[in-house]
Amino acid sequence: MMFRPSLFHLLFYCATQTLGVKIQSEPEVSGEGVIQTELQRTVTLLCLPDGGSETQADEELVWLRNGAVVILREENKKGRSSVCVTPVIHEDNGATFTCHLSRNATIRASVTLNVTYHPQLSGSEEVAVEDESALVLRCDIWANPPVSSVSWTLNGSAVDLFAGGFTVTNDGFTSQLTASSVEKSVHEGTYQCTANSPVYGEHSKRFQVTVTEKTMKFPLMPMIAGLVVVILTALLAVVSRWSKITKCCK
Ligand SMILES: *[C@@H]1O[C@H](CO)[C@@H](O)[C@H](O)[C@H]1NC(C)=O
Ligand SMILES: *[C@@H]1O[C@H](CO)[C@@H](O)[C@H](O)[C@H]1NC(C)=O
Ligand SMILES: *[C@@H]1O[C@H](CO)[C@@H](O)[C@H](O)[C@H]1NC(C)=O
Repeated sequence: MMFRPSLFHLLFYCATQTLGVKIQSEPEVSGEGVIQTELQRTVTLLCLPDGGSETQADEELVWLRNGAVVILREENKKGRSSVCVTPVIHEDNGATFTCHLSRNATIRASVTLNVTYHPQLSGSEEVAVEDESALVLRCDIWANPPVSSVSWTLNGSAVDLFAGGFTVTNDGFTSQLTASSVEKSVHEGTYQCTANSPVYGEHSKRFQVTVTEKTMKFPLMPMIAGLVVVILTALLAVVSRWSKITKCCK
């Protein structure tokens, strides 16, 4: 007799519990509503009403990607609704997918994608730079998670910033090595940038830099002036000749 009111309350509580929605995914959600994935992979998300109600098979569902409604086929709305992200691209990193009931947007569930990728560094590039000109080498170090370090070497040993008059800048996307005025004996050789990712390890790119002899800049203005003189002279010659020709015809 004593436990009856409490059991009654429990049943009552269950019956009136708010209907919710839940998201099932492949790969599974890890931790705080985050799905770990990589570029070119596929992520599938399935949304289901969740709350023990009889009416849930008729519940219409809505998917949002970063707050914008995802267009769904009619048969993919009632009772269960799936969206598929394939292939996963850079822009999907940090994207939030939300599913809610069509009739009540406050009943919702969300997941966020964490797309990991390594820096796009590989291969070798030939670079020719004129003596006394500026040398600029760039490496794409954009990655998720961000790279922990970037290093530059010349002929296998760390670039001597002071001796070579180099500066290195890094804005999180690109690491740039610059020398404002190159000299063959100091700057020619094989450069390499290496980025270290805490997840993907080392990635690097090489540059074969050759310093070429300075060429004379083409003297454009004197050239034009000279050309004008030549043309005018020719024109005058024709004109004077023409008067002779016409005279002779008379
Ligand atoms: C939507 O659901 C919330 C939470 O269950 C509820 O408080 C609210 O009254 C509902 N709104 C409508 C319009 O049904
Ligand atoms: C994304 O995944 C990477 C690698 O596991 C992790 O270091 C980073 O903290 C994650 N970011 C978020 C926002 O979960
Ligand atoms: C790097 O090595 C190349 C080939 O051995 C050599 O020609 C060049 O002078 C070296 N560069 C420097 C700065 O030592």
